[in-house]
Amino acid sequence: MRTVTVGLLGCGTVGQNVLQLLKRRQNIFDDLGVRIEVTGVLVRDAGRERNVPEGTPLTADPAFLQESSVVIEALGGVEQPLALLLPYLRSGRPVITANKALLAERWDDLREHALAGRLYYEASVMAGTPVIGPMSTVLRASTFTRLQAVLNGTCNHILTQMEGGQSYAQALAEAQALGYAEDPPTLDVGGFDTAHKLTVLARFCADGNFPYGDVQVSGIEGVTLEDVAQARAAGERIKLVAELCCGGEGWRATVSPQRLPTTHPLCSEGASRNALVYEGEECGTLIFAGGGAGGMVTASAMVGDLLDWLIGFPGHVPLH
Ligand code: NDP
Ligand code: HSE
Repeated sequence: MRTVTVGLLGCGTVGQNVLQLLKRRQNIFDDLGVRIEVTGVLVRDAGRERNVPEGTPLTADPAFLQESSVVIEALGGVEQPLALLLPYLRSGRPVITANKALLAERWDDLREHALAGRLYYEASVMAGTPVIGPMSTVLRASTFTRLQAVLNGTCNHILTQMEGGQSYAQALAEAQALGYAEDPPTLDVGGFDTAHKLTVLARFCADGNFPYGDVQVSGIEGVTLEDVAQARAAGERIKLVAELCCGGEGWRATVSPQRLPTTHPLCSEGASRNALVYEGEECGTLIFAGGGAGGMVTASAMVGDLLDWLIGFPGHVPLH
């Protein structure tokens, strides 16, 4: 049995579920001949009670990174994780992250590590619904033409609850309680989280250096109960839609609330559900749909990335 040392950054909604899943699926690691040793779990308040396995080494000191052969990042934010991860990546060790804001906004620092196969980030878009895996592998053979997607569980939850008459504020509070929302939730409702995710996807199918600043963004803050009811009466639903297609002057990336027929693939049921319609000349139209927010569904993609690394698969390599 080989011991693999894992460092975890963050022990909130996602981090706690990563620890639980590592324990629950221990048999998979046993089958690989691997014993996972968690070297440390970085938090702000190590004294706070958490739902984690007994003996979890919670700490506010990231020194354990020195002894970790792989790091799983579930902190959130941009500057703090970047400061911790860059020296680590430069040492040639792999990082698994769910942090789409970091990927979208600090690509200049991260791209060389992604190209080297050291960066694993399936969980950053659509959480546990695999879409980065296929886009970074088999789908490259096809000529990409367009994608349309619902990528934010918080907005989906709010808009779905508003269809039942709940107020915007109540529905947002509920999404926060469920652990779907970002800190601050403006990232969700303002459309910025969706724009982060669209940027990450664009780097697999449009341009390996696609800049976050090129996404035109509008959120759902202005959507009223009346708007939602009017759409329903017309056989439509309001969704926050991300779109990427080739316009006259290059790639056009947008995030905006749209009315879609209830039969549209982006209108599938499930409040935190995400969906993506991918169009390629040779592969045709593909539909991906499933859980897009929440602790365990996100942890499933992160532990999946860990297994990929252990087996020897490279991380998610963008277009060259
Ligand atoms: P939480 O806010 O629930 O957890 C964040 C954790 O990071 C907490 O344990 C917190 O410590 C710790 N932390 C934050 N800043 C610091 C710091 N400066 N120093 C030490 N510890 C710190 O966030 P989530 O788990 O919801 O999200 C984590 C990441 O995963 C984000 O990038 C998010 O975008 C991404 N993600 C989240 C999903 C979800 O459904 N929640 C889905 C997909 C991706 P403490 O507990 O002590 O405050
Ligand atoms: N805040 C995000 C959402 C978490 O609501 O979709 C998943 O990325």
